[in-house]
Amino acid sequence: MTELLSSLPKKLLPWYQQNRRDLPWRQTRDPYRIWISEIMLQQTRVEAVRGYYSRFLAALPDLPALAAVPDDVLLKLWEGLGYYNRARNLKKAAQVIVAEHGGVFPQTYDAIRALPGIGPYTAGAVGSICFGLPTPAVDGNVLRVFARLTALEDSVDKEKTKKAVTAALEKVYNAGNCAALTQSLMELGACVCVPNGAPKCESCPLAELCLARKSGAWAKYPVRGEKKERKREDRAVLLLRCGDRFALRQRPKTGLLAGLWEFPHVLLPQDADDETALQTALQFAEAGGTRPRELVRETQYVHIFTHIEWHMHAFLLDCAATPDAFTWATKEELESTFALPSAFRPCVEKLLTVSG
Ligand code: ADE
Ligand code: SF4
Repeated sequence: MTELLSSLPKKLLPWYQQNRRDLPWRQTRDPYRIWISEIMLQQTRVEAVRGYYSRFLAALPDLPALAAVPDDVLLKLWEGLGYYNRARNLKKAAQVIVAEHGGVFPQTYDAIRALPGIGPYTAGAVGSICFGLPTPAVDGNVLRVFARLTALEDSVDKEKTKKAVTAALEKVYNAGNCAALTQSLMELGACVCVPNGAPKCESCPLAELCLARKSGAWAKYPVRGEKKERKREDRAVLLLRCGDRFALRQRPKTGLLAGLWEFPHVLLPQDADDETALQTALQFAEAGGTRPRELVRETQYVHIFTHIEWHMHAFLLDCAATPDAFTWATKEELESTFALPSAFRPCVEKLLTVSG
């Protein structure tokens, strides 16, 4: 296996030079920019990140700007990307860098790793890409490539496996190849040794070395542990409309979607039917003092989080009162000011953006 890995750079690096995609964060070695890109790219596809990345950097071009940004502006910039703690940790880390590192991004693996929201993957990526450190960045893409290449039988969901893969890759990092090696591994995982469907072994620079290719057993790798089942919750969601304003409330400061805005909603019994959902919604609207008058439209959809899925029964209700318990916003204010997580976006699209 050591032999297999030792010839990895000389196969992979020329391929990367020829085939690399021109991505916005590949035009810089500025640690601020690389860091933002790596945080955004966690759990999120490149195409989804592009727009967010340029808007974020236009609004917050440097560490001091990020350290000082108001939370509501920050969350609005992150709206729809998900995993909002990533954004909050970015700000916290920027504050630490300003307070403890004189505003200069730290340049050692340990100091980078010690920042809020930065784990071994991000520290490895920033360390190798920006500072040429021999620190691999092992994410799902790299685990998949490595597992196929070496026919790895251990579950890649285990921390122990990730550590072993990182240690094995460290040995192939040499002075001079670190930035390109990190990016070429990611690129191979994203474009050739792909996650869904068959890997494109015929155009893979590692094909000659690859043990999964030799045995034809790519589908077996990466080996994974059992997935936990997601918890299901049924919820009634209310678009309470009074004139041209809609009721919003802010989520608690901790927990799921902390501090973001949402349409009011209530937990329903599991698998609740439409009738139960509507009755519950109306009771909630009455009890909240909004004096609901008319059901205008309804819709259903499912929103999937990592550990939970919300089965939404959503109702647009015209109301006659605007109690202070809610924040009442126009559609324009909703778009410009309030960060609304994707779990509630279909309410706007399906209930408010309808012709006829
Ligand atoms: N996924 C994670 N980091 C990436 C990067 N720097 N380029 C492309 N895809 C990535
Ligand atoms: Fe992945 Fe195929 Fe390349 Fe092996 S040869 S690393 S399975 S794309």
